[in-house]
Amino acid sequence: MLGIDRDPAAVEAARSALAPYGPAAVLVHGRFGEVDALAQTAGFVPADLILFDFGLSSVQLDAPGRGFSFRGEGPLDMRMDTSTTLTAERIVNAFDVKELERILHEYGEERWARRIAQFIVARRPLRTTRDLASAVEAAIPRRAWPRDINVATRTFQGIRIAVNDELGEIESGLKAALGILKPGGRMATISFHSLEDRLVKSFFIVESKDCICPPQQPVCTCGHRATLRIVTRRPVRPSEAEVAANPRARSARLRVAEKI
Ligand SMILES: C[S@@+](CC[C@H](N)C(=O)[O-])C[C@H]1O[C@@H](n2cnc3c(N)ncnc32)[C@H](O)[C@@H]1O
Repeated sequence: MLGIDRDPAAVEAARSALAPYGPAAVLVHGRFGEVDALAQTAGFVPADLILFDFGLSSVQLDAPGRGFSFRGEGPLDMRMDTSTTLTAERIVNAFDVKELERILHEYGEERWARRIAQFIVARRPLRTTRDLASAVEAAIPRRAWPRDINVATRTFQGIRIAVNDELGEIESGLKAALGILKPGGRMATISFHSLEDRLVKSFFIVESKDCICPPQQPVCTCGHRATLRIVTRRPVRPSEAEVAANPRARSARLRVAEKI
């Protein structure tokens, strides 16, 4: 088994947890988008099964020093890979208001993106996660605060996705995985929000079609051939018992496809 994570601390934790398996468990530091090259180097090509567990871990979310959480006080960091350079602090303090609005709107799916972006810019420099959460709290009128999630959830999600180019990574990871799966091999994905799940769903749909020409075109010119068979028509969701045991699993969606 080969395990890949872009967070060096996660790789180290997995290494000690899987130590009893000896050389059967190989752990490497790297990105989903590099899964083909990393698997090739480690001798795992062609692959039987590739499982992507997207997003943030509880360990990352719960460590105030990583800056992912709007609870408590932490630095505006949000890097999964601490060796990269783009941080939340740079996005919040240096990106122009339009770009901030786009990030909050597209990656946070935040209705108040424009106002929050304006409040962030007006309060610069922001130094901590509390500063960012306070800017969001001030920007959104109290009567419009969501009931089911923290008022800053969407803003933190948007900035975190931008810091880590998470959606770009999913797209390149899925393509790279398809390239190294053996025929009959399967790829499985666990998504935690609709932006992730939508990318997987459309990738699986496109790759399961023999033609991807626009429907109004009378003759096929694309030459596309199906490379995947979708195994889960609808995403698999956690059972009530699983959600009761692990509430953070509640929004997880599992999709599986098989290489043709
Ligand atoms: C939801 S957690 C799951 C971790 C592990 N499967 C577990 O159950 O403990 C997602 C993990 O994926 C890693 N990750 C997110 N995006 C990544 C990417 N593009 N490349 C490599 N690892 C990534 C994160 O650092 C995080 O540790």
